[in-house]
Order: sequence, then C-alpha cells, then structure tokens
Amino acid sequence: MGMKIQYFSDYEGMSTKAAQLIIDAVKAKPELLFCAATGGSPTGMYKALKEAAQSDESLFEKMKVIKLDEWGDVDSKHPVSCEYYLQEHLVNPLKITPDRYMGFSADAENPKEECVRVSCVLQEKGPIDICILGIGTNGHIGFNEPNLQMTDHCHVAKLAPSTLLNGMVINMTKKPTYGLTLGVQDILSAKHIIMLVAGSGKEEATKHLVSGKITNDWPATHLWSHPNVDCLILG
Ligand code: PGA
Repeated sequence: MGMKIQYFSDYEGMSTKAAQLIIDAVKAKPELLFCAATGGSPTGMYKALKEAAQSDESLFEKMKVIKLDEWGDVDSKHPVSCEYYLQEHLVNPLKITPDRYMGFSADAENPKEECVRVSCVLQEKGPIDICILGIGTNGHIGFNEPNLQMTDHCHVAKLAPSTLLNGMVINMTKKPTYGLTLGVQDILSAKHIIMLVAGSGKEEATKHLVSGKITNDWPATHLWSHPNVDCLILG
C-alpha cells in the first residue's frame, strides 16, 4: 500500500497498465465513481478504455464520471475545454449517459457558486472510487497549484504561469483567467488514485514526487499521505 511506483519505457505500456487497473476495478464494482483528468498524460489510457468498451459493450454501462477540473472563462464547446476533451475521449466512446456524468461547467456564470454546486454533488455521489491524475510541470494536481496552503475542496484557482503553457491552452490568444478544480482533500478522499507522469518538462516535478517528501511547493507530493496510489511514470 502507500505509493506504488512503476516505470515504463513507452507511453502505450503505461496507458495499457492504467486502463487495466480501471477495467479490473469496474468489473469488481460496475457503478464506481471515476474522477477524470484531462491532458496529454491520460489520452492513451482513454484510447485503451475505448477499445475495451468496443469489445464489451456492458463494461461501462453503470460507471459514473466526475470531472477533475475545468478551465474557467472558456466556452465549453471550445476544443481546449476539458469538457470537449472528455466528451471526445471518454463520455462518447464509453457511452456515459448524462445522468452518470457530472462536474464543473466551463461557462458557469458564477464560478464560486459552481464550486459549491460541485461540492454538493461530490458529497452526495462520493467518495470517488478511482481518481486519475496527471502532474503539471510545477507539480500541480488538477488546478491545485503550489501555494502556502493547499485548498481542501472545490475552488476557483488562480492559474500558475506554467499552467498557461500547457499544451491545451498554449496557442490560445485569449487564455483562461482561472481554473475550477476539486481540492486536495477531495482528491485524497478517493479510494484509489492513479497518477500518470508523462510529457515534456516533468523532470523536476517527478524528482520531487518520487522523493516522498510532502511539500506545498509540489502539490502532487501530498499523494504520499494516501494509502493507495499507483504512480505510473514514463521514463
Ligand atoms: P498533461 O497535463 O497531461 O497535458 O501533461 C498535466 C497537468 O498539467 O496537470
């Protein structure tokens, strides 16, 4: 238990392993609540889940999904939104029906109220059974950025400069002005966490993550306080 670290030499191997962990879990508990991250790190894993759904149509028919985070002030139909990504990579391929899909709306008029709404949803439907995470170059998880104090629950996050260099938004002329994210305790309340470490510029974040020293300067290090984390590292 604790953090189980595994290294992979190729992205496909890492993605297949992550998908297998989810498939095993959903077979054991078909109605599980899955917390979905967005980005380059989990794309291969979603592709493997799509293939599993194609060969077994009933596999994900009860699984529930909650979004980990969302860019603020971005139209939800815009291709950079987490909404767009999740519809394309997860919700449509796995046929997750609207009653089983929840989370922040990118175009919520009042982001603080949206966070209260999602907190209530999580309280009612949670805890999360499996949470998939990527890591930012600055060690963030979701939009929990390095800070003097971590925020426990859903909140409107000020985005770090490095976050605005993420592949999803780097080419936008009008960048998101904030993020909406589950908090660190919301994430740590998940029964099982799968952290995927892939992508360029992650060397320093990875070094801090594997060191085992918990610090708010590298938020992902808080995963060391969780009893059941699979950390899959490409490299
Ligand atoms: P990435 O993003 O998977 O696109 O590298 C991870 C993150 O910044 O949280």
